[in-house]
Amino acid sequence: DIGRAGDEMGLDLFVVGGFVRDLMLYRKSDDIDIVVEGDGIAFAKHLAVMKQGRCNTHREFCTAVVILPCGFKIDVASSRLEYYKAPAALPTVEMSSIKLDLFRRDFTINTLAIRLNQEGFGTLIDFFGGQRDIKDKSIRIIHNLSFVEDPTRVFRAIKFANRFNFTIGKLTSNLIKNAIRIDFFKNLSGLRVFSELKQILEEENPISAIELLNEYHLDKVIHPGLILDSSVISLMESVKKALAWHDLLYLDIQYARWAVYFMVMIRRCPVKVIDEICNKFRLPPRQKNMVLRDRIRADDRLYLLEKSLPCKNSGLYHILSIFKTEQILYMIATAKKEEARKAISFYYTQLKDVTPLIRGKDLLTMGIKPGPAYRDIMQKVLDARLDGLVDTLEDELEYVN
Ligand code: CTP
Repeated sequence: DIGRAGDEMGLDLFVVGGFVRDLMLYRKSDDIDIVVEGDGIAFAKHLAVMKQGRCNTHREFCTAVVILPCGFKIDVASSRLEYYKAPAALPTVEMSSIKLDLFRRDFTINTLAIRLNQEGFGTLIDFFGGQRDIKDKSIRIIHNLSFVEDPTRVFRAIKFANRFNFTIGKLTSNLIKNAIRIDFFKNLSGLRVFSELKQILEEENPISAIELLNEYHLDKVIHPGLILDSSVISLMESVKKALAWHDLLYLDIQYARWAVYFMVMIRRCPVKVIDEICNKFRLPPRQKNMVLRDRIRADDRLYLLEKSLPCKNSGLYHILSIFKTEQILYMIATAKKEEARKAISFYYTQLKDVTPLIRGKDLLTMGIKPGPAYRDIMQKVLDARLDGLVDTLEDELEYVN
């Protein structure tokens, strides 16, 4: 259908990039990128009408997103030779616009395209050896200025190498080292570095990416005071286990996976360094508090917990109830004692959501006047419930009496 929309407008259309790469790797892709040789915005509008979807356009970049009634998103970009005149000193003569579009991408594995027009539908286009590199399990840049053009690609190389278990090609690896040596990152905003790092930490299993960050000394690019050594990496393995444990039990609970890894990454840095990293990354106050203030609290409470064990359920609850999922998982990952790990897991699975059955109106019926006393009573009843002293509402009423 997409191809038909292109045929109707006399435009050549290709599905490109991650979608084709993932297809070749038998992996699921969440979005689809289309490149139109010509006016992509006009095409996107036509497609939206045809499929009764919506179309959001970004005129500045000549791109659009078509959202189909089922919620599926199609990103549309325009490839027109005139768009490529300005930047980068690259030899771009005599290329078709789709070839130029693909030439300007990061790695060969992302340069595959499939034609969508009826004529030649399904033809795989591979100008830069993408298929060969997928077969070789290799991350390779297309041209030597790739990292000059966009230094965030260094992080992307690591993300893809980690995700697909590919190796970074020799030349590409040397160019990465070069980019780090010459400090291509000097003018890169902290926000962009953070966005790349966050994507890496959100990957299913980011450990080998962290090892690569360490091998290439990219920790120093993030901040000179950051150390990603083997002890941090082994704690990250514990984070991975804690997250796997959580996700198995609570499929639908959303939390910031990246933040749990990030807290472990920075935990040994002095507060000043963490503060600088957060500011450089422009973390919003809520996230900064999560990884700095609340993380320090989590360390303190973990220390307290390890000293207080074994303790009553109510004691455990009071130590841990101020924390969100991210800190709980951080504590499980960093606990020194297995006993503490078990206690925190027990809190999270059994105690976290416990509440008294008794309500304010029950206390009123008992003749207790509303006021601060209510809170104390509720707290006592909650403790009794946590410690198994009450079971039914009657038990609670009796307990209050
Ligand atoms: N791209 C690039 N340089 C960047 C970012 C992106 O050349 N710094 C190109 C890549 O070739 C990529 C395309 O833009 O195929 C789309 O980018 P993105 O959506 O980030 O890439 P995906 O390959 O789809 O990655 P992911 O699977 O992580 O979504």
